[in-house]
Amino acid sequence: MTEFVRVSEQLALPKGPGVPIMASARRLDTYPVHVCLDEATAVARLCDEIAGRRVALVTDDTVFAVHARRLGERLTATGLDVVSTSFPPGEASKSLPTASALLDWLAGTSLARRDVLLSVGGGVVMDTVGWVASAYMRGIPYINVPTTLLAHVDAALGGKVAIDHPSAKNLIGAFYQPKAVVSNVGYLRTLDGRGLRAGLAEAIKTGIIASPDLFALIEERHAAILAAEPATTADLVHASSVIKCRLIARDPYEHDLRRPLNFGHTVGHAVETATGYGPVLHGEAVAFGMACAARIAERRGLLDPALCARITGLLDRVELPTTLAGLPARLDPATTVAALGQIRKIRDGRLRFVLPTALGETVITDDVSDAEIHAALVVAPSAPVSRARSNGSGDA
Ligand SMILES: NC(=O)c1ccc[n+]([C@@H]2O[C@H](COP(=O)([O-])OP(=O)(O)OC[C@H]3O[C@@H](n4cnc5c(N)ncnc54)[C@H](O)[C@@H]3O)[C@@H](O)[C@H]2O)c1
Ligand SMILES: [Zn+2]
Repeated sequence: MTEFVRVSEQLALPKGPGVPIMASARRLDTYPVHVCLDEATAVARLCDEIAGRRVALVTDDTVFAVHARRLGERLTATGLDVVSTSFPPGEASKSLPTASALLDWLAGTSLARRDVLLSVGGGVVMDTVGWVASAYMRGIPYINVPTTLLAHVDAALGGKVAIDHPSAKNLIGAFYQPKAVVSNVGYLRTLDGRGLRAGLAEAIKTGIIASPDLFALIEERHAAILAAEPATTADLVHASSVIKCRLIARDPYEHDLRRPLNFGHTVGHAVETATGYGPVLHGEAVAFGMACAARIAERRGLLDPALCARITGLLDRVELPTTLAGLPARLDPATTVAALGQIRKIRDGRLRFVLPTALGETVITDDVSDAEIHAALVVAPSAPVSRARSNGSGDA
């Protein structure tokens, strides 16, 4: 079908220079989040969202082998034109070289501006592919298909996309919202226990900062969640997604840097940086960061000791680290405080802490002293469950 469009403008000459010109560009992005129990339902939702466009599926090598190859074949079987690629798994791939290789690959496909990039994987794939989508042709549509619990409850939502720079995590990034999120909790059955626990950390965070009900759901049903039981994980993913979407809708582009969603991430990022991105999973680092922030709040008299114990107790019960000794990598307090100092330098000289004061209530402050941080780091293990685990070992 040929197109013929007439465009007419008769703009008057403006008044002379001297008056500042105000340019404006407003944008409102909305997208559906589908929480599915099985792949057949997810494929049906994906077909609706893709609407016949060409698809470039990007994943990591592990996810390609366990799920994405089959997903690509199922999409092809519906008549869609699908090309696929994958990169090595792990945080090291959230990098400029990976992004550059993906851009080269895309340039070699005949993907057009309205075609769809399908991002299938954990947070590393979501962040990297989302960032590539934001840059390719000044932005092409992308759909997130999360496969880790962390990506289901957190990374797939919100359009914060980034790759790491050797000097700092998530240094090169953008806000670029997906066209849709289609999750299938069935994919979580192949994730190991360590991966499930790390993802649960972000859901516990959401509960602490915004929902006593979500926190209680996790307290009651954590065993079923860690067994990847579909109905329970679907409840968790649905509740966490609704709450996260509500929180980010207030300030999707983070004009206000004082965000409760950063709870646990100040110390967490320092742990990830100081251990070289890899030995400590993001969720594990965040769990430890939440325990530290809770202890700081308790020592300041802001958090009831019983609630502090309830928070660290849940983290202990789901075997997430709450002490330095419990981290799956050796780290001493001095190195952690030094890493925090580096982060302070990057973040306009401020180290913001989100401190819980009750379930669903936080205060955000930049006046936490190194001595307070040190005291929160050196605390002895509080319960017998806090164990020193061996380096990086995932279990089944
Ligand atoms: N953009 C955001 O809002 C946001 C939020 C939270 C975290 N993040 C980022 O997410 C990243 C961490 O994500 P992650 O924890 O999902 O790690 P990840 O993406 O590295 O995945 C962990 C491992 O699990 C494997 N895997 C994924 N799905 C699997 C499955 N179903 N079965 C078996 N193995 C599977 C992967 O191949 C990988 O080896 C960090 O870089 C973090 O900064 C981003
Ligand atoms: Zn996080």
